[in-house]
Amino acid sequence: MDKIIIHGGVRLAGTVPVSGAKNAALTLLPCALLTDEPLTLRNLPRLADIDSFQHLLNQFGVSTMIAGSRPEDFGRVMTLAATRITSTVAPYELVRKMRASILVLGPMLARMGEAKVSLPGGCAIGNRPIDLHLKVLEAFGATIELAAGYVRAIAPDGGLPGGDYSFPVVSVGATENALMAAVLASGTSTLHNAAREPEIVDLCNLLVAMGAQIEGIGGSDLTIHGVHRLHGATYMVMPDRIEAGSYACAAAITGGEALLMGARIEDMAATVQALRDAGVLCEARPGGLYVAADGPIQPVTLSTAPYPGFATDMQAQLMALLCRAEGASVLTETIFENRYMHVPELNRMSAHIETKGRTAIVHGVKQLIGADVMATDLRASMSLVIAGLASSGETQVHRLYHLDRGYERLEEKLALLGADIERVGGD
Ligand code: UD1
Repeated sequence: MDKIIIHGGVRLAGTVPVSGAKNAALTLLPCALLTDEPLTLRNLPRLADIDSFQHLLNQFGVSTMIAGSRPEDFGRVMTLAATRITSTVAPYELVRKMRASILVLGPMLARMGEAKVSLPGGCAIGNRPIDLHLKVLEAFGATIELAAGYVRAIAPDGGLPGGDYSFPVVSVGATENALMAAVLASGTSTLHNAAREPEIVDLCNLLVAMGAQIEGIGGSDLTIHGVHRLHGATYMVMPDRIEAGSYACAAAITGGEALLMGARIEDMAATVQALRDAGVLCEARPGGLYVAADGPIQPVTLSTAPYPGFATDMQAQLMALLCRAEGASVLTETIFENRYMHVPELNRMSAHIETKGRTAIVHGVKQLIGADVMATDLRASMSLVIAGLASSGETQVHRLYHLDRGYERLEEKLALLGADIERVGGD
């Protein structure tokens, strides 16, 4: 298996392109199921998760065509056509690889009146139930059956009527499934306490481009007037705010600077605030976000929260940066119960982090020291890379498949900033 080798201590400086957002792409792709006309998505990141989702859609009979982008280009264009859906079953082998597979449930149910999806298993960052996905679809008129590790959703004859649902906790995935189901319902649906992450806005914008009628986009109360059919569209995936935030932490931990081309500062307010609190300069520049850290890193206290709060997906990367702060930071993870698996690995690199339940106290240290470390989940992996960039000596990050799920050509992008980083085969 490949590993990444980093020789830390190089001050990063330069320009890096921000890819299309993984978490947006993974909810835009299943929209192809909602229409028999072609859907073209531009700026799709080249990631293992996108490939897995493509295979899942192919399994349903969706044709996918990638337009001739050159291997050296970041991003690509995919045209998907669900002219005829030949299967409504998402099998275990594919769902197991990628939790986001659950996002076919809503659109498949809406288009075909039926969908059967393997239950996603437990996950490294917590239990991650799907009860809210099922409850909102029930509120829209679906019958839900659970058997033999599968969830089967069935719409009444004549399709989903639609309905009203108030989420007891904010769920990004359940909001996405609900939106994709409601757009083709025969009546009007309302969602309260819906997630309002920028990726949800991206999804709404695509659905509207396909002919959906949605009111309240960007807010937590959404009204969806079902339409009889949706049509094809061409749509550009939004830039990845988590990738951009990750490279900001990478540049900052080395006392460096970076222009994150394509980043949209307006989607990143909580991350930008946290970086500024840490003493990192953040400025909107034409075409992107400029970050620079020329003074010491300051400690920060914050909790993760649904958008517009600080994203759980940025917690590990910020923690890596704060390992070098002048003082103790306190981070509280409120979204997932088991999202500190990077802590023991960072401590192997001479960080000084203590965890108590959902809280982590990060005591800044003067020097991190390179070590062999194991990536445990996607964002945890990135935190180890960030720490490695500021460590003395050599850091080897093993188990790269997590990184490959979510960071497009990470080592090439970091090399653009001057990092001494390489990927080598074998483990
Ligand atoms: C979550 C993050 C999202 C991130 C993604 C990948 C939030 C609100 N969501 O989205 O930003 O990109 O992980 O790391 O920050 N829950 C239930 N029942 C459900 C669904 C969720 O109890 O059916 C709970 C979860 O256990 C969790 C919370 O709701 O505590 C938010 O989960 P949710 O937003 O659905 O997770 P993702 O969609 O995976």
